Amino acid sequence: MSSVFVSGLLAGKVAFVTGGGSGIGAGIAMRLAAQGARVGLLGRKRDKLDRTAAAIGDAASVHAADVRDYEAVSAAIEACAAAHGRLDIVVNSAAGNFLAPAAALSANGFRSVIDIDLCGTFNVSRAAFAHLSKQGGSIVSITATQAHVATPLQCHAGAAKAGIEKLTRDLALEWSRFGIRVNAVAPGPIEGTEGMARLAPPGASEEALRRRVPLGRWGTIDEICDAVVFLVSPSGAFITGSTLLIDGGTSLLGPGPFLDLLG
Ligand code: HXC
Ligand code: NAP
Repeated sequence: MSSVFVSGLLAGKVAFVTGGGSGIGAGIAMRLAAQGARVGLLGRKRDKLDRTAAAIGDAASVHAADVRDYEAVSAAIEACAAAHGRLDIVVNSAAGNFLAPAAALSANGFRSVIDIDLCGTFNVSRAAFAHLSKQGGSIVSITATQAHVATPLQCHAGAAKAGIEKLTRDLALEWSRFGIRVNAVAPGPIEGTEGMARLAPPGASEEALRRRVPLGRWGTIDEICDAVVFLVSPSGAFITGSTLLIDGGTSLLGPGPFLDLLG
């Protein structure tokens, strides 16, 4: 864990993390717990959630649900708030993605990614509103550089993540009067994740891909956790409606290695 923060920053807070069963979401859930928060974990697969919960211990609760199902999401948030007594922080990390050229992508394939990423983020934020607005709170959604950078084989994910960033600004404006801050974090390539396993252009060596990042390496899950803790902690108290880009400069170069996928 990074040492830039004093410990116990989130003592007494309760967080709800979607996609908390793996990758970046699991890392964020564990980090929020390490900072003193109790954490509800949401994903479809209970076994993945149980693994993260086991790493956290008694401060974790597990809520298996699909973010596309509003009633199930709402029930999960109610169960989390009942188990821990309140809700202060929501992190939207659940997402689906794959490489697919737009001309070969089915309407259902496009819709599935929009449903999970964009509609799922709305569903969770909306269902959490009644709890967050009681004492104020904070929402952070994980987007991606594809939201800003035209990227081959990523029109579905790019549209979904761009939608989340717009939703972030609109919710930030509407919900500021309730003391709810709404922000996003846009990672570039993060090592050791399902996202990179799925999206790294096939055939390219990791070394070649790392050379396409201006800072010369992929990011770490820990670095995304640092940003989330910053945004939800008192250090971020005057930040709302913003997207924090954490990509080692990757997006400065455009779509980079994804361009090779055009053939
Ligand atoms: C083209 C595909 C496809 C593929 C699925 N589809 N995979 N089309 N290429 N590789 C199409 C299917 O054919 C179907 O359309 C539609 O998508 C729905 O597929 P299902 O399998 O029924 O959907 P579902 O079970 O809901 O699964 C959703 C999913 C899946 C997104 C397709 O991959 C998933 O659950 N992913 C979750 C984990 C994940 O993706 N993690 C990575 C997040 S990382 P038809 O027309 O046939 O019915 C990330 C990285 C960002 O976002 C940036 C990194 C740089
Ligand atoms: P990951 O491990 O696959 O995380 C995605 C999580 O979302 C999984 O735990 C999955 O669990 C859950 N999920 C998927 N569909 C769901 C649904 N319909 N309902 C509920 N939960 C669902 O991938 P990751 O790479 O860590 O990505 C995490 C986040 O970071 C995503 O938002 C991604 O877009 C973003 N991101 C990643 C990178 C990267 O380099 N990895 C870069 C930029 C942005 P279940 O399968 O159990 O549901």
